Amino acid sequence: MKLKRIILFGTPLVLAGAGAATGGHFAARTHERRMSGLPHLNVVSCNHCHQSSLSRLPWAKPRPHHDAPGGIVVSPDGKTLFIALDDRDEVAEADVASLAVTRRAKVPGGPFGLALDATGKHLFAACRHQDRIAVLDTRDLREEASIAVGIRPTDVAYCQTPAGERLIVPNSGSDDISVLSVTPLRELTRPAAGREPYAVAVSGDGGRVYIANRLAVHDQILSQPASEVTVLDPANGHVLDREALHSAHLAEGIADVPTRGWVLNSMVRVRNLVPITQVKDGWVMSTGVAISQKGGEVTQIPLDEANAYFPDPSGVVASPDGRRAYVASGGADVVTVLDLDRLGAWLTQAGEAERSDASENMALSYRYVAARIPTGCNPQHLALSPDGRRLFVAERLEDRVLVVDTTSLKPVGRIVLGDGGLDDPVRLGERVFTRARYTFQGQFSCRSCHPDGQMDGLSYDFDGAGVGDNLLANRTLCGVAGTEPFKWNGKNPTLQFQDGPRFARVLMRTDPIPQPQLDQLATFIKHLPPTRMIPWSRVGQPLTPAEERGRKLFFATRRTDGTPIPRALQCQTCHRPPLFTDRLMTSVGTQGARDSSGVFDTPHLIGVGAMAPYLHDGRARTLEEIWTTYQKDDLHGVSSYWSKEQLNDLVEFLKTI
Ligand code: HEC
Ligand code: HEC
Ligand code: HEC
Repeated sequence: MKLKRIILFGTPLVLAGAGAATGGHFAARTHERRMSGLPHLNVVSCNHCHQSSLSRLPWAKPRPHHDAPGGIVVSPDGKTLFIALDDRDEVAEADVASLAVTRRAKVPGGPFGLALDATGKHLFAACRHQDRIAVLDTRDLREEASIAVGIRPTDVAYCQTPAGERLIVPNSGSDDISVLSVTPLRELTRPAAGREPYAVAVSGDGGRVYIANRLAVHDQILSQPASEVTVLDPANGHVLDREALHSAHLAEGIADVPTRGWVLNSMVRVRNLVPITQVKDGWVMSTGVAISQKGGEVTQIPLDEANAYFPDPSGVVASPDGRRAYVASGGADVVTVLDLDRLGAWLTQAGEAERSDASENMALSYRYVAARIPTGCNPQHLALSPDGRRLFVAERLEDRVLVVDTTSLKPVGRIVLGDGGLDDPVRLGERVFTRARYTFQGQFSCRSCHPDGQMDGLSYDFDGAGVGDNLLANRTLCGVAGTEPFKWNGKNPTLQFQDGPRFARVLMRTDPIPQPQLDQLATFIKHLPPTRMIPWSRVGQPLTPAEERGRKLFFATRRTDGTPIPRALQCQTCHRPPLFTDRLMTSVGTQGARDSSGVFDTPHLIGVGAMAPYLHDGRARTLEEIWTTYQKDDLHGVSSYWSKEQLNDLVEFLKTI
């Protein structure tokens, strides 16, 4: 298979060269039209269809790794800080008094979320690249046990319940939550979460756990999206509640405030259905915190001010006395300090209407924002010492942890993990990607819509016509290298173009990103690998029987009864491997009432399992729906002969791409 690809890549060049003198041009055009099924195909290059192997793409090649801090956790005695270094496959230990890194240990699989048990003797690490929880002995930082969980675990929480010790693990790739017992180390149950469960907090009494789901889901494209806080009983893993965060998503941080009976969720308030041209009116997205009170009432309050924005909220922590909370803003390089006494006073006196409109009221935040602490590049995870006197801020793209004295709110020093990686263009590009400075008033960054380079699962109105016209579903940037042209309408030939002047005019409403930074940005994007949608344990394994049947269906040239499927309607013609696109424009009968055109750039299908909702406007909530609800007259591949089981098989195969 691989050999054939390489031969194919070479042959066209030879043919094209030799053909020039012999009327080969005509033959080449005929070949292209026949193979694409497009009678009016204009000049395209041979490697639209004859693509080189994936191993030649930037994301498949080795790249420098960095000491970027992920999750951080403080020992019960407050003396030691543990830091996850997912990009290095390491966990570091630092001494809080001297700020020195004392030890580093290898933990394969991208350790990202961390938790300690009650005694501080065991450290648990959620390894998101290998779908497992590693258990380390904190005396020697040696790994003593490991257990497989769902796909891409991003966090882990430890709690004591009447039924024994538990670990709660949000699996961001499989949209479920692993509930583990500690002795023996065993998975008890795996209930479903919302979309992309990302962070977990335990209630003060250990009776409940709260899981923040990063992405929102909407029932129909024109309905407002909502994300979910999943509430579990950690003893048995039963789901107690699913609280909706309306019009909010990208919840990456969650904290319990036991003294008040609150749960705080950092979040982005999004208005994706209004024309994006309203960015200048402060309309597209704003940052806030959702407060869930006992009894189920949820109030969303803004962190932003009228002309100052604090986008990409990430970690949130509350002080043990319940008087303060801290929220990291990864896009603005700031930690916002909330005075919870003042916030509580406002909540008590505010009427119902005032509370429900609070997130729109940019004049509100001065009432409870006590300070804004500047940080290094891209603060994400936060931790507090047990006495609440030290705040630790993981400055992710700076390779450092900032230490703040919570009495004076002044920095007292930094734990230095690495050099910041400023000689690596990929790293520099990631800084551009996460920085809100390039948008009007710093309202958002690329990451605000493409978290970790993926997509937020929403559809946006980018064309400024009527509300809801020409809605465009967001697309992932993971695995996008080599699939140009970009956008659903295929209008952007390069990444630099995609993010250049037009982007600035339409979306950012400010000066374009300068050329050197634009090049770094493109380099970063090209190095984002596709999103894995099969469990780590199955990587490199043969397809299951169902996936294999689905693969045969994808590459079918005949129906089950033997009738040929026209070349133009075979999946593989348009979604041609290895990129699963021919990079050409076609129509598959999906033009909707609000679309000005029905012709789209054939999307690549690399990592397609992670890309719901589907089709250009996001109308199909699942892969199945593409061929059940939204197929018309066999225009999008010939599917009328499939049984329900065959459709299931095809979907299973698509998830392996
Ligand atoms: C629209 C897509 C498309 C374009 C553009 C295209 N080809 Fe092909 N080509 C195919 C398909 C499909 C096959 C059938 C073999 C396969 O599926 O691997 C094929 C087969 C071939 C083969 C035979 C090799 C084999 O294993 O069957 C050669 C040689 C070839 N193409 C050369 C070229 C050259 C030279 C150009 C540029 C002038 C070109 N192709 C452009 C789609 C295309
Ligand atoms: C307001 C949300 C939003 C922001 C902010 C945003 N994007 Fe996008 N992005 C989208 C949507 C929606 C699409 C699909 C639009 C289309 O195809 O026309 C998209 C498409 C893309 C594509 C094309 C992918 C493909 O497969 O065709 C690239 C590349 C991209 N974005 C990069 C970026 C970069 C870089 C930034 C920051 C400079 C950025 N985006 C900021 C929402 C956003
Ligand atoms: C004639 C070319 C063509 C053929 C044949 C074709 N597709 Fe598509 N496919 C497209 C285009 C164009 C789109 C985008 C349509 C839209 O967004 O409205 C698309 C969209 C998709 C998507 C959704 C991708 C996303 O990110 O939303 C999937 C999955 C897909 N096709 C799989 C298949 C399968 C499986 C087959 C065979 C049964 C097939 N396609 C046949 C051109 C084709």
